[in-house]
Amino acid sequence: MALITSKEMFKKAYEGKYAIGAFNVNNMEIIQGIVEAAQKEKSPLILQVSAGARKYARPAYLKKLVEAAIDDTGLDVVLHLDHGEDFEICKQCIDDGFTSVMIDGSKHPFEKNIELTKKVVDYAHERGVVVEAELGKLAGIEDDVNVSLKDATFTDPDEAVEFVERTGVDSLAIAIGTSHGAYKFKGEPMLDFARLEKISNLLPNYPLVLHGASTVIPEFVEACNSFGGNIPGAKGVPEDMLSRAAKLGICKINIDTDLRLAMTAAIRKYLVENPAVFDPRKYLGEGRDAIRKMVEHKIKSVLRSSSRL
Ligand code: G3H
Ligand code: 13P
Ligand code: ZN
Repeated sequence: MALITSKEMFKKAYEGKYAIGAFNVNNMEIIQGIVEAAQKEKSPLILQVSAGARKYARPAYLKKLVEAAIDDTGLDVVLHLDHGEDFEICKQCIDDGFTSVMIDGSKHPFEKNIELTKKVVDYAHERGVVVEAELGKLAGIEDDVNVSLKDATFTDPDEAVEFVERTGVDSLAIAIGTSHGAYKFKGEPMLDFARLEKISNLLPNYPLVLHGASTVIPEFVEACNSFGGNIPGAKGVPEDMLSRAAKLGICKINIDTDLRLAMTAAIRKYLVENPAVFDPRKYLGEGRDAIRKMVEHKIKSVLRSSSRL
């Protein structure tokens, strides 16, 4: 069992109209919770590491922890860099043994994004590593305006085709109304499925990626808040919309915020209910269990990636 690329995984997901969960990892408990769930559900899995995670845990620790998880579970795992902002960080991760990297040039103009992505693709492909890029800017809430309604930031379908052809990138993250974090929509949640369908039709058999795909399940926000937290007005992407996106060419669904909420709710609850306990293994263990349950739920009910190994 080993670190693998997402090539075969995406091919099967595309054909089967399900999606692979790409879960952000920052420490041992998070990694263990996720891989335990994937092992139980016999699900393919992507573990992704952000620049912030590398800074927090330090690169060598995360790599070794993921390797330990592979040894321990017998799973094949894709180790992916999330939101690499320049060539250097992508190169470092490729040289460190990551099997997949994201170069996020979405903040750059079209031509600059192509140039940067192509440079990473050339370096990665020579070394057997796959690359994800992003075109269009993820939506977000700014003041009182729901930016998800502003067409300008969404991915242009014709540009997506040109981008993929000119860069040779292996998968493409698109902007259709999701955003990062716990505050995705002010009003009713809404994704541009017509745009997704158009992009998918123009790029047949091509794996698309959805970032900012946490559902921000009210039960977990309430659990945080009822044990001393204060997370007001959070709102995410309804789960049925994610399953629908998976049927329209979205092969990778990125989830971080839902894991953060689940872990925080469990630890808050444990510490409030057990004020005399000060053994980190007790509350971190609760956090790990909460991650496992959340990932099991995502795999079974949202991604539909159970029993696909
Ligand atoms: O898209 C971002 C992920 O949620 C990672 O967040 O940069 O705080 O580690 P981070
Ligand atoms: P969420 O904040 O919705 O979990 O999105 C995570 C993500 O896109 C990581 O790249
Ligand atoms: Zn993201």
